[in-house]
Amino acid sequence: MRKWMRVAAVMLLTSSVALIVYTMVNVQVAYTHTDLTDVVKNGSAKISREDVPSKAPRPRAGPPKPAKAKQSPAVARIKVDRVQISEEFRKAIPQNSAFWNRKLHSVLRTLARGENLTRFDLLSGSKCRPETTETLVTNIPDFASYPELYQGFLRGMHCRDSDLLIDLPEKCLLEDETENVTLLFAIKSAARNFEQRQAVRETWGREGLYQGGLHVRTVFLLGRMSADEPDLGKLLSSESKIFGDLLLWNFEDSFYNLTLKEHVFYKWALMHCSKASFIFKGDDDVFVNTQATLKYVTSLHPEKASKLYTGEIISEASPLRNPEIKYYVPQTFYEGPYPPYAGGGGFLFSGPLLQSLYSISWHIPFFPIDDVYTGMCFQALGVSPEKHAGFQTFDVRVEDRENACVHRDLILVHQRNPKQTKRLWRKMNSPFLTC
Ligand SMILES: *[C@@H]1O[C@H](CO)[C@@H](O)[C@H](O)[C@H]1NC(C)=O
Ligand SMILES: *[C@@H]1O[C@H](CO)[C@@H](O)[C@H](O)[C@H]1NC(C)=O
Ligand SMILES: *[C@@H]1O[C@H](CO)[C@@H](O)[C@H](O)[C@H]1NC(C)=O
Ligand SMILES: *[C@@H]1O[C@H](CO)[C@@H](O)[C@H](O)[C@H]1NC(C)=O
Repeated sequence: MRKWMRVAAVMLLTSSVALIVYTMVNVQVAYTHTDLTDVVKNGSAKISREDVPSKAPRPRAGPPKPAKAKQSPAVARIKVDRVQISEEFRKAIPQNSAFWNRKLHSVLRTLARGENLTRFDLLSGSKCRPETTETLVTNIPDFASYPELYQGFLRGMHCRDSDLLIDLPEKCLLEDETENVTLLFAIKSAARNFEQRQAVRETWGREGLYQGGLHVRTVFLLGRMSADEPDLGKLLSSESKIFGDLLLWNFEDSFYNLTLKEHVFYKWALMHCSKASFIFKGDDDVFVNTQATLKYVTSLHPEKASKLYTGEIISEASPLRNPEIKYYVPQTFYEGPYPPYAGGGGFLFSGPLLQSLYSISWHIPFFPIDDVYTGMCFQALGVSPEKHAGFQTFDVRVEDRENACVHRDLILVHQRNPKQTKRLWRKMNSPFLTC
């Protein structure tokens, strides 16, 4: 009994400290206050739609063009809406002393009071100043024992903005403005993965007009390389000029920054591809059956088509506590089960969900594992993931991996190297294929 009370008191104290620290941070931001509209504008006004010749048939992006003072309607659309977080999500995330759980429940309390995200909240997310060690140690007793990369994630966890170094403002402009992009491939890549990207371009990620008048577009999502790596900037710049399909942000590309990559991608997509009907988000080492994907999405009931979140669904997963592995999550950081989520190797969702996804990901604290985070956001929106047997993120049987017939009805397999991807694509599209 007494022990229980002591635990409760400690928890109360911890959350008060968190609240005080939180308030202090906000007050500090208040002193450096700039108008939010400015931040949003500046973050996005670099390239306006009007810079793009609207007649360009199959536009290809060059380097970013200089800013225009006039704001285009495309830019004005990017806003953070007031969000409603589902009861299901509130209940799914236990209230306990782990840092992330406390942070989330503090957000939920704010929303429950009917308060919206203030512009200071938004600003503190736009300013990417690292959190001080003192703040972190105050809130996470064993912070010092976290792996170094994890500490890095926590320092930058509140940062939700990053400049685009290579943009593609014309990517989704179509010759006939009444038509929309049916499928946008958003592929997480890394600067050095030239060969993977080329294999994707030459096979399943090929852009253009597909059977039935369906438009497909592809973008590769990249972050900056670390200072320890060779500088591939010039190569990326050439690649971008030749192919016009790279988006490069000014944050360090790393596993724990994939959640940030997702958030800034939502923002880009809202700005420049908001009418895309479906978005496929995945890795550059998967194989996608584009025809099957298009067939599937165009066969959906309209109601379903606007609320889709599908892939290989991982249910009832929990944090892994082994510090040696990539998916390690310390006990003092997060405690509880994961919501059901679609494996990050590749999943599909509806374009019309972009705005609410973007808004909700301003509220839900960033999580170090991007696909778990995506699952959290969808659950918070009240959109349930749907299992699709065509997504094989854990791959098909070894003996079937080169079998084109087996892949004919699948949507995704993970993983294939560039050579395997080319070979499989060629076989699947061969006129001699009989299954
Ligand atoms: C936004 O841009 C304007 C004009 O370039 C500048 O005066 C203002 O300080 C910028 N605001 C921020 C927050 O960067
Ligand atoms: C929150 O935002 C909504 C919609 O923008 C607005 O109607 C409401 O008045 C706001 N609530 C508060 C407390 O500011
Ligand atoms: C294109 O998207 C817009 C906005 O989502 C929608 O109103 C319009 O009907 C779509 N056009 C076609 C041809 O699907
Ligand atoms: C994420 O990117 C930011 C900005 O470049 C960087 O400061 C931070 O260290 C990166 N985080 C990780 C975990 O790599």
